Amino acid sequence: MRDETKCLHAGYTPKNTEPRVVPIVQSTTYVYDSTEDVAAVFDDPMKSLIYSRFGNPTVMAVEDKIAELEGGVGAMCTTSGQAAVLLSLLNICDSGDSFISLTEIYGGSVNLFFYTLKRLGIECIYIDKNASDEEINQAFKPNTKAVFGETLANPALTVLDIERFANIAHRHTVPLIVDNTFATPVLCKPFEYGADIIVHSTSKYMDGHAVQIGGAIVDSGKFDWMCGKFPGLTEPDESF
Ligand SMILES: Cc1ncc(COP(=O)(O)O)c(C=O)c1O
Repeated sequence: MRDETKCLHAGYTPKNTEPRVVPIVQSTTYVYDSTEDVAAVFDDPMKSLIYSRFGNPTVMAVEDKIAELEGGVGAMCTTSGQAAVLLSLLNICDSGDSFISLTEIYGGSVNLFFYTLKRLGIECIYIDKNASDEEINQAFKPNTKAVFGETLANPALTVLDIERFANIAHRHTVPLIVDNTFATPVLCKPFEYGADIIVHSTSKYMDGHAVQIGGAIVDSGKFDWMCGKFPGLTEPDESF
């Protein structure tokens, strides 16, 4: 847990202070009392905020709210919904891996999966939501790392049977990632039906008044990432 009280940016209200009023902290960096304080944070970035690309009080307040709305343990905001979709997969799929996606999803995601991820060596296997369990099981390969679908598909508005696809994904020890943009947690909380990761384009209903492109990735905290298939999430990062 970060010691956010160390962050001396004017007007910043530390976490756990209710009600939480956070100003728009429009700053790349933060103010510290001394160079020693800054050096300590560089030695251990979990101590406090260093740089807004890693963490920003305003964004963290939004992340906490979205995580709470979805019933997850944590969230990370991104610069767009498409970035959220991309990062949710790039963090668990390496070149040479594959994942399964429902066919009825947002066109931008279809292109991202079929063209962009293909160039990176990540294969997307599309399946129809009405496919039989046998057909879906056959789509899984040893390198399959996730199943992806949308609660309410854009633009078809078809409804994903989250429970069914979560059970199938879990039988193959992979997470179900659900794009909950169109439903929002007001209409549906995919974690309650077994989803493991939720992604959002906050540019739509969450924004509410068409002023800010954004996205979010939320973790249910329930998937067993230590199962051996996801070293990128469980082993030390070389860069640290
Ligand atoms: C369901 C869904 N997911 C993701 C996106 C991409 O989000 P953004 O436009 O914020 O990048 C959209 C955009 O229309 C969407 O409808």
